[in-house]
Amino acid sequence: MSLLGKLTDPLFAGAARARQRDFLEAAMAGAALAAVADAPVSLAERHTLDQILDSVDMLRAVEVHVAVAVFDGYVDAIKDAPAGARAKALAAVAALSGDAVLAPLLLRIATALARADGALTGPVQEEVTAIAAALGLPPPAPDGGPFLDSQPEGEAPVTIVLGNEKGGTGKSTTAMHLAVALLKQGHRVASLDLDGRQGTLSRYVAHRAAFAERSGDRLPMPRHKCIADSNARDRDEALACDRDNLRHAFTETADCHFRVIDTPGSRSCLSHLAHAHADVLITPLNDSFLDVDVLARIDCDRREVQGPSPYSEMVWAQNDQRVGAGRPPIDWVVMRNRLAHIDARNSREMRGLLDQLAKRLRFRLVQGFGERVVFRELFHRGLTLFDLPEEGAAPRAPASHLHARQEVHALVHTLGIAALGLGQQAMRAKS
Ligand SMILES: Nc1ncnc2c1ncn2[C@@H]1O[C@H](COP(=O)(O)OP(=O)(O)O)[C@@H](O)[C@H]1O
Ligand SMILES: [Mg+2]
Repeated sequence: MSLLGKLTDPLFAGAARARQRDFLEAAMAGAALAAVADAPVSLAERHTLDQILDSVDMLRAVEVHVAVAVFDGYVDAIKDAPAGARAKALAAVAALSGDAVLAPLLLRIATALARADGALTGPVQEEVTAIAAALGLPPPAPDGGPFLDSQPEGEAPVTIVLGNEKGGTGKSTTAMHLAVALLKQGHRVASLDLDGRQGTLSRYVAHRAAFAERSGDRLPMPRHKCIADSNARDRDEALACDRDNLRHAFTETADCHFRVIDTPGSRSCLSHLAHAHADVLITPLNDSFLDVDVLARIDCDRREVQGPSPYSEMVWAQNDQRVGAGRPPIDWVVMRNRLAHIDARNSREMRGLLDQLAKRLRFRLVQGFGERVVFRELFHRGLTLFDLPEEGAAPRAPASHLHARQEVHALVHTLGIAALGLGQQAMRAKS
């Protein structure tokens, strides 16, 4: 069977389907417990449930009316006979205890329901604490939870995260080009470098400042912050430290229209936190079959897809957190970078493979940039294609630069549907 044929197999669904029914039962039991803890189920709670059913991967495959019927069944039972029905619902929840993926997800769903009507306090907090205990997890914090404090939607900067767990795919280069493109459109832009070890974006910005000083050119500059990973040994301490540092950087850039966040090409707690804040996530991908393993596990010898990659699973988990906290889902954009000008066959095959993956993993596939040396040359001067002379200007820019700029413009235009629309909303709110 061909690689594409394998992709259409229910490979991703296989494991999920086996646990789906248990999860539906447990999630609706937890949601019902949280929703009825204070009063009858409110409209806000129903709305939150709808959003969860629409966005949480494990529930999306279930017919909405079926899920709602299970939820209502628990709600009615708890109303009629609180003690017995509550114990039964907690037992359904406890069935997921010890499941490293589904137990935290269930707790987030219950917490989202609990927060739908306001802060997590009093009897609602007690109920969520009981759900957490049934799952063998620590209870969520009374206010804030796993999420950073945030500004109301429409006032917060639009957050664009460049992410994948592979180096050299063009994250930092794309981050800088996007930041400058947005600056040139008149937006206030923050650039956050969460890859403190490599510090590519920070060096790019520093080169830009140095070039502006040397040449006397007025180059628009992003408000730049570099955040290093915490080096605390204790995991909880490190997480708290990373979260504080990121929160601090967010506060300092709260008046910007956009935050462009560059992340390292490896697992990092800071990167995960940033992904949960991504209104738009851009994943650049080198245009080769080998590099698709950023998105899905592929056995290259046997040409088999084995399942989603750890990175894709992380994106889903962060997306679930966002949705659980009442935010819109991440707009995930996968960008083919360094497209070869030759080898049309490979390019076609890649396109076919990525189109299939786009449906499975729910991302938008966009055309990135061709393989061009100009990107490397620009880095040392801190410049982007948007800083080079316009077409027809003197001195004339080489044709390859103009083509490259068109490619970057095309990317900004494609993103514009989601990101720039949101940015304008943010601009109006701030002006
Ligand atoms: N489209 C491209 N064509 C040629 N070189 C590129 C392209 N995109 C990125 N590069 C180069 O590849 C290297 C890695 O890019 P970088 O943006 O640092 O990747 P990452 O941040 O994902 O590690 C850099 O030298 C950069 O100039
Ligand atoms: Mg980088």
